[in-house]
Amino acid sequence: MSTVIVAGGAGYIGSHTIRGLQKGGFEPVVLDNLVYGHRKIVENVLRVPLVIGQVGDKQLLKKLLSGDHPSTKGKDIKGIMHFANFTYVGESVSDPAKYYKNNLAETIMLLEALLEDSKKRNTQPIPIVFSSTAAIYGLPLQTEIPISETTLQNPINPYGRSKLMIENILIDYHKAYKLPVSILRYFNAAGADVKGDIGEDHNPETHLIPLVLQALFDKEGFIKVNGIDYPTFDGTCIRDYVHVSDLANAHVLALNKIINDRSLSIYNLGNGKGYSIMEVIDTAKKVTGKEIKILKSKRRKGDPPVLISSPEKAKKELLWEPEFSDLESIIRTAWNWHLLKEKRTPIKNK
Ligand SMILES: NC(=O)c1ccc[n+]([C@@H]2O[C@H](COP(=O)([O-])OP(=O)(O)OC[C@H]3O[C@@H](n4cnc5c(N)ncnc54)[C@H](O)[C@@H]3O)[C@@H](O)[C@H]2O)c1
Repeated sequence: MSTVIVAGGAGYIGSHTIRGLQKGGFEPVVLDNLVYGHRKIVENVLRVPLVIGQVGDKQLLKKLLSGDHPSTKGKDIKGIMHFANFTYVGESVSDPAKYYKNNLAETIMLLEALLEDSKKRNTQPIPIVFSSTAAIYGLPLQTEIPISETTLQNPINPYGRSKLMIENILIDYHKAYKLPVSILRYFNAAGADVKGDIGEDHNPETHLIPLVLQALFDKEGFIKVNGIDYPTFDGTCIRDYVHVSDLANAHVLALNKIINDRSLSIYNLGNGKGYSIMEVIDTAKKVTGKEIKILKSKRRKGDPPVLISSPEKAKKELLWEPEFSDLESIIRTAWNWHLLKEKRTPIKNK
């Protein structure tokens, strides 16, 4: 069977992509340092091998790639998916060194391992799929909505800049070393697997949908709305929420493409539709049948009013068809996961 190394596979999008890879006939092996990942999800729910380590540990990577490691011995490694970055925008502003070291420096070491492995074994470099982000577009002109892959890239924080730097390195390595690369720029990943056994479990959580749903479990819970005076139809920011299982499918399609044509490709992955913060809250109320307290607050610095993707390139070239394109079904899967999680580990203060 074809094996794929999933770096950061114990995290939110990585764990869902493992399920997508399994459905697509691949055998995933996870590499994760578990700083934010969930060991039990990998070992007990997804039941795939977990290697605990740094994505930038060159020696470990070379062992994994060459099959000189128990988890990959005798396996045919077809690709590597790289989710293993830190993701907190605010923290990247207060501690940029942490982001350039973990995201950028470790990725450079990973790539060095890939290239040294291909040289040593006299094979072509193993394809890589990289998790990039809409944050590389920074504050796009509102006339540029929906955002396409060629929209000006001008990130406004170290997180976004670390991602754009990695993108540029990957593009250069593709040109110079024929490294097959797929760069996937996600908009707001949301929702959970329909089975409800894996979902979004960040700590700390900063994403709107899980924060809204968590607030429902807490007696004192409320949701803070940052800015109600944006130039949008209801005054709150509009974002593009894309279901995590749809993202997972896109990864499998992107990997298969670069395994076959060894190309460089870049895709925006979003819904192509935008929903305001108030629409998210209202839909969550409808799905859960509960009331949610709202705290109206000032705008945050650096939040553009509207961010909506154009996913047309991925649809055309990868034949990607998102299954969960409406907000209600995205929130329904997330709620289902929250309910099942609550049963497993009851949240205090209820
Ligand atoms: N969640 C989103 O909405 C979103 C949007 C755009 C882009 N992304 C990108 O997608 C990727 C995955 O995001 P996520 O939400 O699943 O994050 P996550 O934090 O849930 O998953 C990341 C995983 O990588 C691991 N990790 C981090 N640094 C590592 C290192 N140096 N070595 C080994 N393991 C390491 C963490 O332990 C974690 O399990 C990230 O690269 C993120 O920047 C996410």
